[in-house]
Amino acid sequence: MLPSNIVDKIGKNLHLQSRHPLNWIKHKIQNYFQSGKVSSLTPFIFHDGFAPQVSIKDNFDSLLIPADHVSRSHKDTFYIDDDTVLRTHTSAHQNQLLRQGERYFLVTGDVYRRDTVDATHYPVFHQMEGVWVPRLKDLGAFTDPQKEVTKHLHATLEGLAKYLFGNVECRWVDCYFPFTAPSWELEIFFNGDWLEVLGCGLIEKKILENNGMPDDVGWAFGLGLERLAMVLFQIPDIRLFWSEDPRFLNQFQDSADVIFKPYSKHPCVTKDISFWISSDYHENDFYQLIREAAEDLIEEVKLIDNFQHPKTKQINHTYRIIYRSMDRTLTNEEINNLQEVIRQKTQELPIELR
Ligand code: PHE
Repeated sequence: MLPSNIVDKIGKNLHLQSRHPLNWIKHKIQNYFQSGKVSSLTPFIFHDGFAPQVSIKDNFDSLLIPADHVSRSHKDTFYIDDDTVLRTHTSAHQNQLLRQGERYFLVTGDVYRRDTVDATHYPVFHQMEGVWVPRLKDLGAFTDPQKEVTKHLHATLEGLAKYLFGNVECRWVDCYFPFTAPSWELEIFFNGDWLEVLGCGLIEKKILENNGMPDDVGWAFGLGLERLAMVLFQIPDIRLFWSEDPRFLNQFQDSADVIFKPYSKHPCVTKDISFWISSDYHENDFYQLIREAAEDLIEEVKLIDNFQHPKTKQINHTYRIIYRSMDRTLTNEEINNLQEVIRQKTQELPIELR
C-alpha cells in the first residue's frame, strides 16, 4: 500500500506544468539536445508522459541491478505489489525504448525514493534520462567506437553543463552504476563549490545485446531536475517546487532567467522525540511516517543523539524535528497536535518511546 502523501503526488507532473521552474529547466535541456549541438544526424525524441508505475523488471532486473542491491529494499523503494514499484529512476524506460529500436531519446518523469528529510531531499523528484546509441555507420570510419562514444558523451555533457551554467569548470569522477561501464559523475565548479550534476556512462553491452543491438556502443546519463533548478534559480528548499503559492509561481511567469527572491521566511518550531530502537528499525520508515503525518510542514529531521545503554545494550535515538511552513506562520497548537500524531504513529514502528 502506498502512503497517502505519495499517492497525492502521482499525476501532478510538475515538469509538464507550463512556467513551472522544472518545466523551464526541462525545456532548456531539451533545447540543447534539439539544437544540433549534439549531432544533427541523430535527432532526439522526447518522452515526457510515461506513468511512474513500472515493473520490477524494468526498474531493476533489465538494468542488471543485482538481486541484493540496496536500492531494491522496501526501505528505499515504494512497492505497489510484488511485481510493481514507483520508478526510482527514469532509467526504468531505457530497455523498453531500445527494444523498440529508439536510439536517441530523453525521458523526463517523476521518480520516487524513501529518503532523509531536509532542504534538498523529497520522496518525489524529477529526473531526465538521455540515451544515445549511434548506428555504427554514422560513427564513420573510426576504428574504436568505445573511444569515440566516450568522447561524444563527455563533449555532449560538458556542453550541456556550460549551456546551463555558463563557462564553468567541469571534472569527471569515476563511479559505479550496474547498467553502465565505465561510469562517471560530472561535477562543475559553481559558486565556490564542486557540484555533482549527473551520472552517466557507456551502456552495458549486455543491455544492448538484450535489446537487439549486439554490435552497438552507446551512452546514457541521468540527472535530477530539482537539484539543477535549485542551483540555477537559487531555490533554497525543495518543498517550494510543490508550492501553489503565487509568491513562488509568479516569479517564473515570464522567463527562465530568474533568480528566486525568497519571500519572508516564517519562524520554525523545533520538537525533539526520543525512543529505544530494536534491530529491525529503519530510519527511512520513521522519516516516511513524519512525511505522512505532517507533509510539507516539515523542514528537516535530524538525528541529534544516538547512544547505547551500558547495561541493557539498548540503543536510543533522539531526533530533532524542525517544523516550518513555506507559506505561513504555524501555531503552537497545530504543532503540538502534529507532534502528538507523530508520537501515536510511532507505535507502528519497532521502537519504544521514552
Ligand atoms: N539512474 C541513475 C540514478 O538515478 C543515473 C544514471 C542514468 C546513471 C543513466 C547512468 C546512466 O542515479
